Amino acid sequence: MTDAQLREAAERQLRANLRRGVSTVNGKPYSFCVPSTITYPFQWFWDSCFHAIVWSHIDPEQAKEELRTLLRAQKRNGRIPHRIVWEPRPLYPYRFYLHSTSFRRPVHSRFVQPPLLAQAVEAVYRRSADRAFLEETVPSVERLYRWLARARDPDRDGLVSIIHPYESGLDHKPSFDVALRLAHPSGRAAVLAVRRLDIWNRLLGYNLPLIFFADRFNVVDVLFNCAYAQGIASLSRLWRELGDTARADDCRHWAIATEAAILDRCRGPDGLYYDLYSRHRRLARTKTVTALAPLYLDGILKDEARQLVHAHLLNELEFSLPYPVPTVAADEPSFDPAFRSPAASGLWRGPTWVSTNWFVVQGLLKHGFLDEARHIVARTRDLVEQHGFREFYNPYTGEPYGARGFGWSTLIVDMLASLETA
Ligand code: GLC
Repeated sequence: MTDAQLREAAERQLRANLRRGVSTVNGKPYSFCVPSTITYPFQWFWDSCFHAIVWSHIDPEQAKEELRTLLRAQKRNGRIPHRIVWEPRPLYPYRFYLHSTSFRRPVHSRFVQPPLLAQAVEAVYRRSADRAFLEETVPSVERLYRWLARARDPDRDGLVSIIHPYESGLDHKPSFDVALRLAHPSGRAAVLAVRRLDIWNRLLGYNLPLIFFADRFNVVDVLFNCAYAQGIASLSRLWRELGDTARADDCRHWAIATEAAILDRCRGPDGLYYDLYSRHRRLARTKTVTALAPLYLDGILKDEARQLVHAHLLNELEFSLPYPVPTVAADEPSFDPAFRSPAASGLWRGPTWVSTNWFVVQGLLKHGFLDEARHIVARTRDLVEQHGFREFYNPYTGEPYGARGFGWSTLIVDMLASLETA
């Protein structure tokens, strides 16, 4: 398959996942891609950001529509839900009732997801040069980041907390086990612990001060915070593009301070970056792919980046497997490269996903690790070419798992394009 054929396949996939109409929930128009037609038939926040990044190469107008649809779900306070239902159904998966405060119509979850919105808007702008789109979206995009700073930084240290594993986008990532008070759980036990947390959050009515006071699950997720910092850096560039230098400078300082806080607070003695949990901000020292996420930051020092790459990413005992990058380092007790079912295995406990590879590749290119980036893109390309746009893959054999026709696996198109411009 040539790159051009791969791009056509990606376009066919995104078009197959496209949903358009006028919502009978609120009369608003919508136009977005579902992550997959059977497994995930609704809108998800960070999936839409990824879809827009891929659309920006194929059809920038559709990319704008995908992001406008997300912004139409924005709450007055600035938050955008992690999952949005545009067409109501008589009945939803039971989790939806736990993730919302409405039992009748749980159309919006109370969660957020890694804030990649500003990056997605920037990608669309870079390929469409549509200034009017920036004028239309940037103020609302900033409101999301301001809400996170206000509502999700209880100790005002510049880092934002998630209140549920699903907010990380990496649902059952084993670094959450310790925060969930589990010692070496099976995948099934990890999933059940998340359900118990659901019930708890629901009982607290998703009241954030109460949730932080109770301190049951309060995690500074490294990837979430890297997406936040880089989102604010994107915002700064977008404000500058719009000629508002005061706002641009303000966001620039904010982004630099956020990066510094991540690099300072999350770094472990082995040079990896770990999630922090509880109000005591303990390091959750499980080696997962998000421990490499600070490569995606502008401000990481050369030596620290080199250590991440040479001591960890390229280490065959940890992340350098035949189809990198596994979600969990191979020498972690929780590492499970295979997958049976969501309930039995949980998600993100070993297999390789295209979205996390996308972050790693962005980071490698940013800091000049061109050969390493080429290698990961080539292996990701092999996975997609051999098995199609699946949800995730076995890091040893490439065996595909989970949803078929999975939207964000088309990110390979963006990864190939970034190699060309590197
Ligand atoms: C899974 C993933 C999450 C994603 C969602 C929809 O729950 O863990 O990151 O947003 O599916 O694709």
